[in-house]
Formats: sequence, structure tokens, C-alpha cells
Amino acid sequence: MPPPIWLMRQAGRYLPEYRALRAKAGDFLSLCYDPALAIEITLQPIERFGLDAAILFSDILVLPQAMGQDLRFEENIGPLLEPIRDIERMQALDTTRVVERLAPIMATVRGVAARLPDDVALIGFAGAPWTVAAYMIEGRGGGRFETPLAMAQRGDPILAGVTERLIDGSVDYLLAQIEAGAEVIQLFDSWAGILPSGLRRRWSIEPLVEIVDRLRAKAPQVPVIVFPRNVGHDALAYLEAIRPDAIGLDQSADLDFARMRLQPHAAVQGNLDPALLVAGATAMTDGVDRIMHALGKGPFVFNLGHGVVPETPPRHVAELVASVRNWRPQ
Ligand code: CP3
Repeated sequence: MPPPIWLMRQAGRYLPEYRALRAKAGDFLSLCYDPALAIEITLQPIERFGLDAAILFSDILVLPQAMGQDLRFEENIGPLLEPIRDIERMQALDTTRVVERLAPIMATVRGVAARLPDDVALIGFAGAPWTVAAYMIEGRGGGRFETPLAMAQRGDPILAGVTERLIDGSVDYLLAQIEAGAEVIQLFDSWAGILPSGLRRRWSIEPLVEIVDRLRAKAPQVPVIVFPRNVGHDALAYLEAIRPDAIGLDQSADLDFARMRLQPHAAVQGNLDPALLVAGATAMTDGVDRIMHALGKGPFVFNLGHGVVPETPPRHVAELVASVRNWRPQ
């Protein structure tokens, strides 16, 4: 049996049908808050490629916005937030109205759940507290994050307070997604890798443990995937502490380590380099072959090591799905 396959950022700018709806809505956040359009976009890659899972079309930064932080997306720059740099701003974050303010997102989940074929899973998600806090404190993306990293180094109470509030907000938000029809949850810790290894436990792993334990207490039937990007062999520490159902691997992960040390404890998910999906042809199919040889006996979910990039030819996604489904050991 081939493994299930879906792709991070499977709905997005590489699809002409996405760009058409995005042009209609004007900007990205308007799309996220318009259930009719967001339902359509979530389903686009399912209809085009027959993937095994749909992921809710939204963003990890709608949660801080629902906690009261200003957010906008600037063309060619990315997210811009009003940075949180003092105790007062941290304390002003309000977790009590998250579910109410994110009602349109839950309407999207319900709409997708109603239209999705039974054999396609619906994945809900949130960002991990460290990754979301990094944006909230830095105020923008770009991957530098000096201020949140300095706060992590000194054990700053502002970062601690933001983290605590994100844990509470994420649990409520994810439980609401589950109630609306999400069947699997993925937690994106895209910036776990920039934390020095010794700081990962306090700022990345422990908050995830708390979220997953609280989700499991209320929704034990829902599998949880944790994606700590670029943490190398620390992936094992994430598995041992959090005990997720699956761990997502980025393209730098060591496949032998994943097979021998991670797969005995959990399903692994990943990890084709998104650049190989842009390249296509044998560069891509050789990449599929390496991954399937190492991890294909399972438990395994095929994915990329990070999101689909806008330069990706849609035809390559169809070819990727076929090459995974037709793969045979040589
Ligand atoms: O995966 C999916 O198809 C579901 C939707 C989804 C988006 N973002 C849509 C999106 C998910 C799960 C995310 C998660 C997300 N958002 C992460 C974690 C995963 C990762 O990529 O590391 C992060 C860090 C964000 C924050 C974010 N959103 C940034 C930094 C940017 C700007 C960079 C970019 O790619 O434009 C976004 C915008 C964004 N999120 C787009 C999409 C489709 C592009 C929006 C557009 O311009 O139309």
C-alpha cells in the first residue's frame, strides 16, 4: 500500500485557481476570513490532485490577531505585526474571545468537512507557541528574530507570558476546530531550529507538551502531528516528551536516524525538498525513491520538508502523487 500523501501549503500561489480567488478577495487575510472562499481554496488541491488529506486554509497568525494584536500581510514582505516588547502589551493579550473572533475559520472547517469525501482527512492546525511568539515579538518574518531569541536566552517574562497565553489560546482554538470537524491536528514549529538546542526544551518542547496533553484530555481520538523544523536529532527529544502520533521532518532530516530512532515510536511525515518539486523530472523522482526506500515500510505519511513554493509547476505535483503511489522497491 502506498503511504498517504498531502503537502504543506498545498493550496497557494502556485495554483492559478488560487490566484484567481485571491485577486477577487483583494488580500490574503480577507480570504482566510471569508468561509465561502476559504472552503473553495481548501478543496482546490484535493480536486486537482486527489491528495489524501485537506488542510484548513488559514494562517498561524490569525491566533495572535484574535488575541488583540494588529496584523497585516504586506505584498512581497509577508506578515507585519505590532511588536510586543513590554509587559503591558503582553498582559493586554486576551485569550477569552479567541473562539468567538475566529468563528469564520470554524465555519470554513464545517463547510470543508461537509464537502470532503469520506476517505480524505481534514487537518486543522495551529502554530507552536515558540514560532508564533517569535513573530509576535519580532513584529515581522524574515527568519532573524533577534529580539525573541535574546528573550529566550535570558528567560524574559515577556516571552514567558506570551507563551503561556498562546498555550491557552491554542488549546481553545484547536478544540473548536475539532468540534467543527477537523480530524487531525498539526502543530507547526517552523522556527524551532533557530533556538539553540539547550533552549528548545523550555521554549519549544514544553509548551507543545502542554498543548498536546490538554487536547488529548478532551479529544483523545484526534491524531496530532508535530512539525519541529530544522531540529536535527533533537526530533527524538520532541517525540519522547510530547508523544505525538506523528512527527514531521524537514528536508535536512537524517533518513536512517528517522527510520531507526523515530519510526519505532511514531509515524514520520516528510520530507521531500520543496526545491525538488520545482525541479521535477528525475531530480524529483530520485528524491521520492530515497525517501520511500528509507521510510516507506511505515508508519509513514509522504509530504514535503516545508511548504510548496510559488514557483512550483502544478504539473509536478500531479507527477509527485503518481510517483509515490506507483513506487515499488527495486
Ligand atoms: O498549508 C496550507 O495549504 C494551509 C494554509 C497555511 C498557510 N500558512 C497559508 C498561507 C498554513 C498551514 C500556514 C502556516 C504558516 N503561516 C506557517 C507555518 C508553516 C511554514 O510555512 O513554516 C507560518 C510560519 C506562517 C506565517 C506566514 N504566512 C508567512 C511568513 C507568510 C508570508 C510568506 C508567504 O509565503 O507569503 C504567510 C502567508 C501565507 N500563508 C500564504 C498562504 C497561502 C501566502 C498568501 C498570499 O500571498 O496569497
